[in-house]
Amino acid sequence: MDWIQAVVLSAVLAVSWAAEDLSFPPGFRFGAATAAYQVEGAWNEGGRTECTWDKFVHEDPRRVADQSNGDVACNSYHLWKKDIEIAEELGLHFYRFSISWSRILPTGFSNQINEEGANYYSNLIDGLLEKGIEPLVTMYHWDLPQSLQDLGGWTNPLIVDWFEDYARVLYNLYGDRIKHWLTLNEPLIMCDGVYNTGVFAPGLFSPEVGAYYCNKYALLAHAKAWRLYDEEFKPKYHGKVSLANQLVWFDPKTKEDEALAELVIENCAGRYSHAIYSKEGGWPPSIEKHMQELSKKRGYPRSMFPSFTQEEIELIRGTHDYYAFNHYTSRIVRYAEEGEEFSTWPLGDAVDLNLKIEKGEGWAQGASSWFFVNPPGIRNQLIWLKQKYGDLEFMITENGFATFDGRDDQDRIQYYRDYLEQVLLAIKEDGVNVTAYTAWTLIDNFEWMDGYNVKFGLYEVDFNDPERKRTPRASAHYYASVIKSHSLDVPTTRNEL
Ligand SMILES: *[C@@H]1O[C@H](CO)[C@@H](O)[C@H](O)[C@H]1NC(C)=O
Repeated sequence: MDWIQAVVLSAVLAVSWAAEDLSFPPGFRFGAATAAYQVEGAWNEGGRTECTWDKFVHEDPRRVADQSNGDVACNSYHLWKKDIEIAEELGLHFYRFSISWSRILPTGFSNQINEEGANYYSNLIDGLLEKGIEPLVTMYHWDLPQSLQDLGGWTNPLIVDWFEDYARVLYNLYGDRIKHWLTLNEPLIMCDGVYNTGVFAPGLFSPEVGAYYCNKYALLAHAKAWRLYDEEFKPKYHGKVSLANQLVWFDPKTKEDEALAELVIENCAGRYSHAIYSKEGGWPPSIEKHMQELSKKRGYPRSMFPSFTQEEIELIRGTHDYYAFNHYTSRIVRYAEEGEEFSTWPLGDAVDLNLKIEKGEGWAQGASSWFFVNPPGIRNQLIWLKQKYGDLEFMITENGFATFDGRDDQDRIQYYRDYLEQVLLAIKEDGVNVTAYTAWTLIDNFEWMDGYNVKFGLYEVDFNDPERKRTPRASAHYYASVIKSHSLDVPTTRNEL
């Protein structure tokens, strides 16, 4: 063989090796996600009543960076057919959306079902199924009916029953067509994010105590909804139910910081997972102990961290059919040095450790202040979960990048490529059974306190256009080609914009 042949042959081998190495397992599925309040608009149409986010943004528009709100958003309530077209254009295997509780149940309770609201989701589900796209439903993505918030919302133990009643309505309406359900989206943000910071709707600041009661009732509400499905609906419909946790990955700075980083991970991931996924159930023991000591130190007569009864532990334990999580970013954890101010992030000071949380060296920053890019974080997270809770099925239910503007979003493409590569490594090198990946988000939408300043969309939305025209970004073409080839062995730059 002469040298030209050798070069050609090695190039061919390199390409075929790369192609093999970068392909996703057969059956691996790709999707994209949105949430009701962020895209639907029609906040007071079709029988929908007020939710916490409506009240929060109307009461004081300054709570949102650009003083905007979700009154119209992407107008998906009227333009849902366009969203299905986009999902089809991308070649999505599934589309994850959420249901607005107050659109289905105007009183918040299940005494009265709003037919128009119920039909909206029924049409969306049927429209997706017609195109061969699986509808994946989130029951609750932060938009609590204001009527229930007025009664204490997630800190009232009765919410456990209200949520179960709501879940029953949804299973009855859509159970015949839905194979994957998520009960709650990111209870960490629903609870710690809300009560420890006061910056999310409903804008209540109740540090220390509020988040932990919310944490407990969120887990119980999830568990009741899961058991209801398992007992009454699963035998007929054979679907799967889980919840979507928000997981930030924490790396220790040095070996000495390992135990500290582990405690921080338990505080953010464990507090919303251990009770459900661990063999023994209940709170992560390290957190329970820490919180008891902290409560004493802060003068509380009993732990500010509510305990579980044995019955509650049994009720929650094992209430999962897969592990779903949203992941965007990482942090480095270390002990603070003498005289250095402690970090209060993530989400409030309640951990009260002598700790410092910072970004890693050389990590790029996305458009949101909290957003740092560290692709290996998603792989480390998957390894941690498997070691902790066993060989479960894992679905990544959100991952994506924040930019300010522009259609030629090479940085978003790079983010997707690098994070997906780490997911592949977790599957192939670490044997983690990841079965699905979900891009956040299908279309630009109302990004909570960042309003419309921050863009996560594969498709750009023109919010000045009454038609809310959707236009694909470069990343939409990239994601479509990854899905089509079922592999990362596709070019990251394309010019068909
Ligand atoms: C991954 O999980 C799915 C769903 O439970 C299962 O069907 C599949 O066999 C699992 N794959 C591996 C490699 O364990």
